[in-house]
Amino acid sequence: MRLLKTGAFVRAAQSARIAVSRAPVRAALAQSRWSSSQTAAAAAAETQHPFPDQSVEISREVDPTKTAPESKDQQEQERFEKKSKELNHGKRLVHENLSGVNILGKPYTFDNTTNVSDSILRLVGRNLYSTPDHPIAITRALVESCFPKPTYNHFTVADPVVTTHENFDVLGFPKDHPGRSRTDTYYINSTHLLRTHTSAHQHAAFQSLVNDEATGFTICADVYRRDSIDKSHFPVFHQMEGARVWDLPVSADSRYEAQLRRKEIIAKDVDEVPQTRIVVEDQATKFLKGSNPTQLEHDAEEVRLVVAHLKRSLEYLVDGVFEASRQMIPASQKEKMGPLQARWIEAYFPFTSPSFELEVLWNGEWLELLGCGVVQQPILNNAGLRNSIGWAWGIGIERIAMLLFGIPDIRLLWSEDKRFLQQFKQGTVTRFEPFSKYPPCYKDIAFWINSSPAAASPIGAESSSGVAAAAGGDATKASPTETQPAAFHENDIMEVVRDVAGSLVEDVQLVDEFVHPRTGRKSLCYRINYRSLERTLTNEEVNDLHNQVAAKMKSLFDIELR
Ligand code: PHE
Repeated sequence: MRLLKTGAFVRAAQSARIAVSRAPVRAALAQSRWSSSQTAAAAAAETQHPFPDQSVEISREVDPTKTAPESKDQQEQERFEKKSKELNHGKRLVHENLSGVNILGKPYTFDNTTNVSDSILRLVGRNLYSTPDHPIAITRALVESCFPKPTYNHFTVADPVVTTHENFDVLGFPKDHPGRSRTDTYYINSTHLLRTHTSAHQHAAFQSLVNDEATGFTICADVYRRDSIDKSHFPVFHQMEGARVWDLPVSADSRYEAQLRRKEIIAKDVDEVPQTRIVVEDQATKFLKGSNPTQLEHDAEEVRLVVAHLKRSLEYLVDGVFEASRQMIPASQKEKMGPLQARWIEAYFPFTSPSFELEVLWNGEWLELLGCGVVQQPILNNAGLRNSIGWAWGIGIERIAMLLFGIPDIRLLWSEDKRFLQQFKQGTVTRFEPFSKYPPCYKDIAFWINSSPAAASPIGAESSSGVAAAAGGDATKASPTETQPAAFHENDIMEVVRDVAGSLVEDVQLVDEFVHPRTGRKSLCYRINYRSLERTLTNEEVNDLHNQVAAKMKSLFDIELR
């Protein structure tokens, strides 16, 4: 799972994204809850370092493009928006000196931070998580079923455009967090982006719990990250977020008494989470200052209870999901396999402390499945839950779906081919039957990087091993605030290939890299593996695509083709 973490705990976090449900999701209701609660609780803002004042825009209704102070600009902007609204989703508009795009019926203007491409915008709105019989929707239902109503509400959020505030600031991301980088994140303009994680909706979802019967929620949505091209990475994937809070009981005589009582309640809730047969090794039981601390305002014993509830709930989830996949294995073989093995390890996220990751041993490999932790108290305070304590987790759905259904290539999940889609049925987990394997066609592209050769390492030398490719960004990449791209970044070629060839490319790999001893210029060679999942590509077709990739690379970046 590509996790939005950083610092000393950034670990090899390559391919996965996991996750989830059974209860049908009330998307429409979810939507209306969102907007009403967003605006209502916006008033109760608080400032606590490093969490900003949440009275700053949290609602999509406040559009910063409308706050342009100059009336002439404003008029121009309004004319632009009017025109753009008439366009269909994904259509670009150039009007007077503004350019922009319509995304799901809403107009956005571009600026010098824009890096979202047409090929990405075409994927917006597919809503795989609510497409009946789709493996993503089946997996989502499975996860939701482990967090049942009425304790948990189940949300989906169709519109992936959020503000930088929602995606980063309100969650306490430092200004220089690599996750904010333009090389990792799709910016529509300087204030809006395609969400990089479902945590972008945590704040609104916590607000929805104020005065609600539910004390927890799950959120499922599509998320977007600029990334490499291979069988387990796609620039759009799905995540689920889960959270649970405990309020202080009101009937108590004093705060002290209330807290004592709340601890009893949490302890009882821990006992009520069903035990599993998973063999769990816990390497994260000490919440030490400096590495994985409890928060200052929290009672250590209460944190232990919240963490116990969090860990048990997620073990229950993993047990449910992996048992579903093991149902397909014959009983005799299953016995030989023994119980599922999992382990808890320490982690770091800006929005939880202490934080953890859960890994599962699958086919002899430890798979990182999810990130979680005790919610940073300012986040709950800002959402109107000052007297609550709680946990949150986030998982990627693709990794789980691919394991569950035996799907070998992530692109299949986006396939509209009936031979794929007709294999799956709501509520059941079945093994994917490959319908055909079409021949690959490799083509290389080699080029010199012209400017600032020293700064132009495409993958950051160390991360070529795959380490530090955390979803939240790679510290070796360009800074989040720069608007002019660095000479070249590996995600740039990925983006060009995607734009030209879409899902006709299986993977793109750096196969050669060297620095000219005399000029100091760097040369890179990438191998592009063209292969359709649905048909055999002709030579002509591949040549044409490859020429287009080369031409686009040449025109967009300061490189010289070799
Ligand atoms: N949002 C995190 C990610 O994308 C996952 C996470 C969610 C971690 C909630 C902790 C709590 O990687």
